[in-house]
Amino acid sequence: MIREFHHIDLRDRNSFGVAQRAERLVEFETPADLRELFADGIPERWTVLSGGNNILFTRDYDGMLLTPVARGIGIVSDDGERVRVRAEAGVEWDDLVEWSVERGLWGIENLSLIPGKAGAAPVQNIGAYGCEAGDSIERVEMYCVETGAMLTLDAAHCGFGYRESVFKHSLKGRVVITAVELLLHRTPRPKLGYGDVEREVEARGGATLRNIREAVCAIRRAKLPDPGVLGNAGSFFKNPVVGADTAARLLAEFPDMPHYPAPEGRVKLAAGWLIDRAGLKGHREGRVGVHERQALVLVNLGGATGGEVIAFARKVQEAVHARFGIAIDTEVNIL
Ligand code: EPU
Repeated sequence: MIREFHHIDLRDRNSFGVAQRAERLVEFETPADLRELFADGIPERWTVLSGGNNILFTRDYDGMLLTPVARGIGIVSDDGERVRVRAEAGVEWDDLVEWSVERGLWGIENLSLIPGKAGAAPVQNIGAYGCEAGDSIERVEMYCVETGAMLTLDAAHCGFGYRESVFKHSLKGRVVITAVELLLHRTPRPKLGYGDVEREVEARGGATLRNIREAVCAIRRAKLPDPGVLGNAGSFFKNPVVGADTAARLLAEFPDMPHYPAPEGRVKLAAGWLIDRAGLKGHREGRVGVHERQALVLVNLGGATGGEVIAFARKVQEAVHARFGIAIDTEVNIL
């Protein structure tokens, strides 16, 4: 079933809490709904607005926003060890994690408490604490806007990388994701290598699925602001991946700089550390600020417009560039 809204205030539909408006917003459930919607042609401007957790509206949106609301979760196959789980696009991601943990299914527990919906997970290949959604997603179901056909894409063709996928590039504006299928496991496969995870898990009595979920939730709650309280979109910037020469130059000057190996001999740096060391942690200008506990997160201190947030973000990028000679890109989708 379709529900349609016009000139709608988006404040409650984006985690930054900016009060921009959309000309038209349509909540849909099924592929048939999408077929009906696109029957009279493709609107000039449209995009998917899922949970609104990774988006910044810098102006009113003069097109159609599509929001998935179907929330089914089910087991597709189960051989006793490998369990395939299908979640419709409107399922809250963290509900899916809880559902899996409850049933003893391993794979996405490190991705606990990431805000957003299952259908958005493959787009930016959400990740945390050493895991990415793309490690567990086996297939993505989508509606092709140009042909009206339903397609299924195997993970191998999703182009998953660090906060990257084909949905941000060649398929952008061409498909609407309707469901994801995950491959989960009954055999324990704890991943405790990242930061404080192991310590927090041990403090809870060892590496059970439930303990890992609770440890990750506790770490996130301690560091990341709750969008229900303080508007934000999680990490505003991506961690920059630089050449080995650049990393060596910086490490000579800043020996304590966090750095991690990345594909092809490159090095991933921590944008949060760079912003922090540029002196901007907790810095505020008007109604926008850098979060006090995690400098990678920009926050709406109350009533900020998208324009104010993006202007502030540009200043953060400039300050990091001036201090370290490094460009940091936005992770958030800017509209
Ligand atoms: N750091 C600082 N100051 C800060 C923030 C970080 O010095 O203000 C340092 C930390 O001490 C650490 C390093 O930077 O040495 C990395 O920090 P952290 O472990 O907090 O992770 P991150 O790289 O800042 C990434 C993801 C998060 C994810 C965490 C945990 C990106 C863009 N962000 O943050 O994802 O939760 O790792 O895996 O990759 C998100 O995408 O919205 C998000 C929250």
